[in-house]
Amino acid sequence: MATGVIVELQRNSPKWGDELRKKNSGLLYIELDGAVAGYVMYSWPSSLYASITKLAVKDSCRRQGYGESLLQAAIQKCRTRNVGRISLHVDPLRTPAMNLYNKLGFKVDNLIQGYYSSDRNAYRLYLDFDTN
Ligand SMILES: CC(C)(COP(=O)(O)OP(=O)(O)OC[C@H]1O[C@@H](n2cnc3c(N)ncnc32)[C@H](O)[C@@H]1OP(=O)(O)O)[C@@H](O)C(=O)NCCC(=O)NCCS
Repeated sequence: MATGVIVELQRNSPKWGDELRKKNSGLLYIELDGAVAGYVMYSWPSSLYASITKLAVKDSCRRQGYGESLLQAAIQKCRTRNVGRISLHVDPLRTPAMNLYNKLGFKVDNLIQGYYSSDRNAYRLYLDFDTN
C-alpha cells in the first residue's frame, strides 16, 4: 500500500450509523489525502464466529493493495475476539472479491441459492484458525 492509513472508527464518533451502533461490530477505513478510499465492517455476534459484513474500495483507488490491507486488518481485529472462524457471503460473480478472499485463505463452505435476490446467489466462505 502506498500512502493510505488504516483508521478505526471510534464508537463515540458521530459518523456511526445505526448499523454500526450494534454491539460487537467494528469498522476500519483507509484515509487517503483526507478522504475515505475504502472500508471494511465486521462483527462478532458471539465467541463462536465473526463475520466480514462489508468491504469496498473506491473505484479510483482499486488495485493498489487497499482491499487486501483492510481485509487483513479486519481479520486481525476478529482474531483478538478469540473466535475460531470468520464467515462471509460473496456474490460468486464478483471476481476481484473472490480472488481476494481466496488469496487470504478463505474456503467455500456452501452455495446459498437466492441469497441476495431470487436470481442472485452467494457463496458462504470461511476462514478457520487455531484458537489455542
Ligand atoms: C474487492 C475489492 C474490495 C478489492 O479491493 P482492491 O483494493 O482493488 O484489492 P487489492 O488491490 O488489495 O487486491 C488484492 C487481491 O484482490 C484480487 N483482485 C483485486 N482486484 C482484482 C481484479 N480487478 N481482478 C482480479 N483479481 C483482483 C487479487 O487477488 C489481488 O491480489 P494481487 O494484487 O496479488 O493479484 C474491490 O474490488 C471492491 O470494492 N469491489 C466492489 C465491492 C465488493 O465486491 N466487495 C466485496 C463484497 S463481499
